[in-house]
Amino acid sequence: MENLYIPWLFLVHTLTLVAKCRAKVPAVIVFGDSSVDSGNNNFIPTIARSNFQPYGQDFPGGQPTGRFCNGRIPPDFISEGLGCKPIIPAYLDPTHNISDFATGVCFASAGTGYDNATSDVVQVIPLWKEVEYYKEYQKKLKAYLGVRNAKKLLSEALYLISIGTNDFLENYFTLPNRQSQFTVKQYEDFLIDLAADFLKKLYVLGARKISLAGLPPMGCLPLERTTNIMGQNSCVEERNNLALEFNGKLKGLVAKLNEELPGLDLMFSDVYYIFLQIIKRPSAFGLEEARVGCCGTGTFEMSFLCDQFNPFTCQDANKYVFWDAFHPSEKTNRIISEYALKTSLAKFL
Ligand SMILES: *[C@@H]1O[C@H](CO)[C@@H](O)[C@H](O)[C@H]1NC(C)=O
Ligand SMILES: *[C@@H]1O[C@H](CO)[C@@H](O)[C@H](O)[C@H]1NC(C)=O
Repeated sequence: MENLYIPWLFLVHTLTLVAKCRAKVPAVIVFGDSSVDSGNNNFIPTIARSNFQPYGQDFPGGQPTGRFCNGRIPPDFISEGLGCKPIIPAYLDPTHNISDFATGVCFASAGTGYDNATSDVVQVIPLWKEVEYYKEYQKKLKAYLGVRNAKKLLSEALYLISIGTNDFLENYFTLPNRQSQFTVKQYEDFLIDLAADFLKKLYVLGARKISLAGLPPMGCLPLERTTNIMGQNSCVEERNNLALEFNGKLKGLVAKLNEELPGLDLMFSDVYYIFLQIIKRPSAFGLEEARVGCCGTGTFEMSFLCDQFNPFTCQDANKYVFWDAFHPSEKTNRIISEYALKTSLAKFL
């Protein structure tokens, strides 16, 4: 009887440590770029930051956190929607520790991409380094929960990945290197191979439930519209078509990996169409302005160009599809997250 009693006590103890989530998933673990970064770049030397006002003006407490938004971003809404915590902390934030990270953690870094050369552009965390941080996190989690419980948590957690836009917009179409090496289609395939390597690495490390977001309609980001002078600042159709083509290849990769890797539940989270609907008919979603962002003139400002001294910043970001010239507003993030929870993530509710 005695040796039955001890494991039971141990179980109760670990349950109280882990049971902060009412959901089918015990934690939300995030990789990617600014679309999902909750502030890791605050702790590395880079210009790709947003830890100053007016960023975060609609965040709880009105705090700039390093999220490229006026408020919360999709991992926050998705975690909350699943019954977990409403804020996913950045792994590099020293005010949080493993007891917080055990129910959700973010390794993402604004400005990064699948391609190492993309993260070099603004000196941010390359995707391989996000994986190194994840390995370090695993060690800490095992020390905190015990190996068995940590492994269980890591296999039952929901992994959210959102990355790729910067590889095209910040790297391929902006700098000469990759263009001299690859046609656009070859570059897409290069990125797909990198995505495959990354996903296989996560699988080997124990991840099983993974949501991979596709690209948004990149040609409708205000910054892209601004360059479309001949087209009266309408969406750049070539960029949107490229996003669709790349998403098609990601979908193919998702199907292939699900077949190859036993027990893997890899989901493609298609944000393209819902995002395009919001842009084409903002009023149907309670929004008013889709062509420019709220911050500054809304045509080019982001990061350090979007600051509290810019006199043009809008009064109510909740009327805007975009917060700055590159990133959705909190309201758009909420709509897209609710859509994901109703579609690709519905089984976790
Ligand atoms: C994490 O931080 C909290 C609050 O500062 C503290 O109470 C707790 O003991 C820490 N946990 C670990 C595992 O370090
Ligand atoms: C990216 O950089 C890491 C670290 O230097 C390296 O291990 C990896 O092979 C690189 N990836 C590619 C595709 O060059």
